[in-house]
Amino acid sequence: MIVTTQQLFKVAYGRFAVGAYNINNVEQTMGLFRGCFDSKAPFIIQISKGARSYTHKLMLEAIIRTADQVFPEAIYAVHLDHGDEATCMDCIASGFYSSVMIDASHDPFEKNVEITKRVVQAAHAKGISVEAELGMLGGVEEDIKVEDGNACLTDPAQAEEFFKLTGCDSLACAIGTSHGAFKFKGKQSLHFEIIEAIQQRCPGKPLVMHGSSSVPQEEVRRINAAGGQLAGAVGVDENEYLPAAKRGVTKINIDTDGRLVWTRVHREFFRDKPAEFDFRPPGKIFMAEYAKFIAHKNEKLGSAGTLDEVRAAVSKK
Ligand code: G3H
Ligand code: 13P
Ligand code: ZN
Repeated sequence: MIVTTQQLFKVAYGRFAVGAYNINNVEQTMGLFRGCFDSKAPFIIQISKGARSYTHKLMLEAIIRTADQVFPEAIYAVHLDHGDEATCMDCIASGFYSSVMIDASHDPFEKNVEITKRVVQAAHAKGISVEAELGMLGGVEEDIKVEDGNACLTDPAQAEEFFKLTGCDSLACAIGTSHGAFKFKGKQSLHFEIIEAIQQRCPGKPLVMHGSSSVPQEEVRRINAAGGQLAGAVGVDENEYLPAAKRGVTKINIDTDGRLVWTRVHREFFRDKPAEFDFRPPGKIFMAEYAKFIAHKNEKLGSAGTLDEVRAAVSKK
């Protein structure tokens, strides 16, 4: 069942976070639905602009509609990740997406507000939720690269004003993370003081953490042992997900960790079976490993085991 992110956040706020996982193909989709079925968790499927153009935007829609038939008990939102205004409008018009992210965080505050307001107006007219972004994460976001020195944490006073001016449903905040596999050079930790200050000024407003992959060191070790070159890769401490969720971080975005699972499975498979050329055996291993990975993440986010409660809440009229 497809629901809005807002419906999921109503149940989760202050208690647990809903995992938002990026998908690009059938194998990821099957692993994601399976892992959420096994851990009895609601989830958010994220589709980036890159994912929409990888095969075809309609292909992802068809894959998800089919997964919905294979896993009829699933409860999830379909969300555009890091959209520009035109892509948001396309997703709103599609009748398929239940949530969009407008990312105008690279524009000045006033322009970010202006663009976000237009998307909120169009989305809310169709009952679709809107996530916006304020502050700048380091690392690579789609085609925009933010140098470390230019990343800036979200200003809590601006966050309060931004919510009021735009009417957005949730806000992606820069709280010390960055996209990709190389997140911290020095000490590894979220800025809990910023999260708390934002929650104080914006009580009840769902916050979103991008760049939340934990980059498991065992995964990095195995990839490097199988020929990879990911020395120095490091991510967020998974044990910080729940403390962040208790402070209003209700959506936690994870993409890189899933890519690491894919890379480890395929590197090890072809290292150990150099004469193989059928892609289905490693594909099968990947789907099973990805499902295990998703179930584990849902445990860490606190969303595992909440599906019945979420079903009861979203079924109420
Ligand atoms: O924030 C970016 C997400 O990890 C999506 O990555 O644009 O390469 O699909 P992508
Ligand atoms: P990671 O690169 O940490 O997985 O973050 C993904 C993300 O924020 C997608 O929007
Ligand atoms: Zn992101």
